[in-house]
Amino acid sequence: MNFRIIIVLIASVMLIYSCHSTVDFKDEIDLKVDNLLCQMTLEEKIGQMNQYNGFWDVTGPVPSEENAQTKYEHIKKGWVGSMLNVRGAIKVRKMQSLAVDSSRLGIPMIFGFDVIHGHKTMSPIPLAESASWDLQAIEKSARIAAIEASAEGLNWTFAPMVDISRDARWGRVMEGAGEDTYLAARIGVARINGFQGDDLNSPNTIAACAKHFAGYGFAEAGMDYNTVDVGTTTLHNVIFPPFKAAIDEAKVKTIMNSFNIINGVPATANKWLQRDILKNKWGFEGFVISDWSSGEEMIDHGYAKDLEHVAELSAIGGSDMDMESHAYIKCLAKLVKAGKVEESKVDDAVRRILKVKFELGLFEDPYKYCDESRETELIYHPKHMAAALDMAKKSIVLLKNENQLLPLKKNKSKVAVIGALANDKDSPLGNWRMAADDNTAVSVLEGLKSYGVNYKYAEGAKLITGETAFSAKIKVNTSDKSGFQQAITLAKKSDVVIMVLGEHALHSGEGRSRSRLGLPGVQQELLEAVYKVNQNIVLVLMNGRPLAITWADEHIPAILETWHLGTQTGHAIAEVLYGAYNPSGKLPMTFPRHVGQVPIYYNQYRTGRPGPKTEVFWPHYIDSSEKPLYPFGYGLSYTQFEYSDMSVKVVDNTKVEVKVSVLNSGSVFGEEVVQLYLHDKVASVVRPVKELKGFEKISLKPNQSKEVVFVLTNKELGFYDGAGHFLVEPGEFEVMVGTNSESGLKDNFILTGF
Ligand code: NOJ
Repeated sequence: MNFRIIIVLIASVMLIYSCHSTVDFKDEIDLKVDNLLCQMTLEEKIGQMNQYNGFWDVTGPVPSEENAQTKYEHIKKGWVGSMLNVRGAIKVRKMQSLAVDSSRLGIPMIFGFDVIHGHKTMSPIPLAESASWDLQAIEKSARIAAIEASAEGLNWTFAPMVDISRDARWGRVMEGAGEDTYLAARIGVARINGFQGDDLNSPNTIAACAKHFAGYGFAEAGMDYNTVDVGTTTLHNVIFPPFKAAIDEAKVKTIMNSFNIINGVPATANKWLQRDILKNKWGFEGFVISDWSSGEEMIDHGYAKDLEHVAELSAIGGSDMDMESHAYIKCLAKLVKAGKVEESKVDDAVRRILKVKFELGLFEDPYKYCDESRETELIYHPKHMAAALDMAKKSIVLLKNENQLLPLKKNKSKVAVIGALANDKDSPLGNWRMAADDNTAVSVLEGLKSYGVNYKYAEGAKLITGETAFSAKIKVNTSDKSGFQQAITLAKKSDVVIMVLGEHALHSGEGRSRSRLGLPGVQQELLEAVYKVNQNIVLVLMNGRPLAITWADEHIPAILETWHLGTQTGHAIAEVLYGAYNPSGKLPMTFPRHVGQVPIYYNQYRTGRPGPKTEVFWPHYIDSSEKPLYPFGYGLSYTQFEYSDMSVKVVDNTKVEVKVSVLNSGSVFGEEVVQLYLHDKVASVVRPVKELKGFEKISLKPNQSKEVVFVLTNKELGFYDGAGHFLVEPGEFEVMVGTNSESGLKDNFILTGF
């Protein structure tokens, strides 16, 4: 243990009795925190609330006036509580030693990074993983990400993103769990458990961060950073629950606030969100980090007049750590001294931050995450690769399979593969893969080859032109069709054509909103041109969001949604195409027919005109169906599942038992996600037409059946009113159990009291 820290700890123990009289009620860590706090100057306390970016991996606009030297000096003074975007055992050790060896109290820094879907070994993008509905696999994926990230010196991830979004135009849907609150809460908890593990003190677990609190996924028109305007029933019932579950069920250590306003107040300064709800009502004990310069951006919002005002509003609002606004470090001490911000607010924030550092074990050993031998041993470990492959296969969704074109039979026919994405080793890694090595994904072509498939390849058309860079806009090829003819000629001579089309990795992610949801560039034209000469097409989609692929659905016999599947992409796709793995994924987001339908989601509130009572005056479009192309929860299998024998029983008015039998009536082994949807028919607050309230992923051999039992308690039966009160009201409910949000067996039950 570092000598300086031993002194601090001894001093802490000696100070216990002098500083505080409430020792009996505090646990060991709280005592250590309090006593360290006693020794800190105001400037050192504020330093803990300050986070700096580490100059290498930049994930936001860089403030111009700060230079590296100032940051180093601040670290040495103990004025930096955390760094982001510094990674690698050696680099982190070097930075950490500046804080530990040079600052007066030697308080270690916490190192944060966007570990979003894998770290070096890349898992599928979060939206894809969510399509697996497999909580164990998702938890394992986060566990592996934590193992690799912690081996690179990191001890904090800015994940999971638990924002609900119903708008496929929003580029960040790739980073979340989709449109549904219940599913997102379950997945968020699984991810946090994976990151944080059973023991945060272990060198291979990291603190998680549920983000962005709150409402960021409701950016108007799906345009990132756009304004947000949501009602309180939506906040309480749709947006908050995944955050509450993260705190109650997974003890998430940190929460990130968001760029947007809620009811006119930016989240970073929003006392109602951060103090009243998060810390007081829900009892969150960790700390809140601002989003990248979300504090300073309050000046642009027209809410703060200058940086000093930013610091005042953020500190009072309950934003504990400042990411890249530099408002606290520049202005907070002055504000406290002038009596504009109470020092107790600073103390509360610092206590929360120090507590997480103690829980991570950073005071025992600030370098516990800086072991180069672990870095060498664990990055790209074969077990991680195997798990990434398993996760990738489970994330694939079979959207269409006419005349059972899939699975293909190996080397029984002449196979053409067309599309630039088939030969791409980078895009499949997806966006938000800061630590990934470029071009390390197994491409579709490589996957097919190693699976022993004989094929011929034609690119057809480039997807993008020029260089790609995370920090720059990508240029889509909208004119070059010079490769069409070669693709058409190849397709003509082939029995089956595998067309790999979709989005580049940088089509989705932060700042990557789209106003159109079709296949970008000339890909739709390429698809139609090939279709003219060979209709036996398997369309393999790669994308970071739902796409409006109505033409493809009407014409192409087989469609496989593969998202961006990470390092093992090509292997996973080959195994699914050829039936070594039977697809089991279900959509976590509705696919629209047309961008004009967005936002489209399955659990909309009831309206006064639900169906066509007249030809004209009901909610529909005059130029397109109002129905989705593929509904939430939808996904096919190479086998069939039959649902029967549904029964519903209210037990002692305290719980409802729903049973259903599921049979694999097809000829191959398969997995099914059995989904339960509930509808509260009359309530004091209008309820959605249906809501997912349970699911179970089961596996069945041919002819095997299984009884699936769901137990609904007040948690599933109740809802929040606009003031945030949780209500369970007697009355009639409809329950549906089935294979997706649109089809299933239905029954009713009555609650007489609860
Ligand atoms: C901004 C993003 O909104 C946030 O999610 C991310 O964690 C930070 N940048 C840090 O990269």
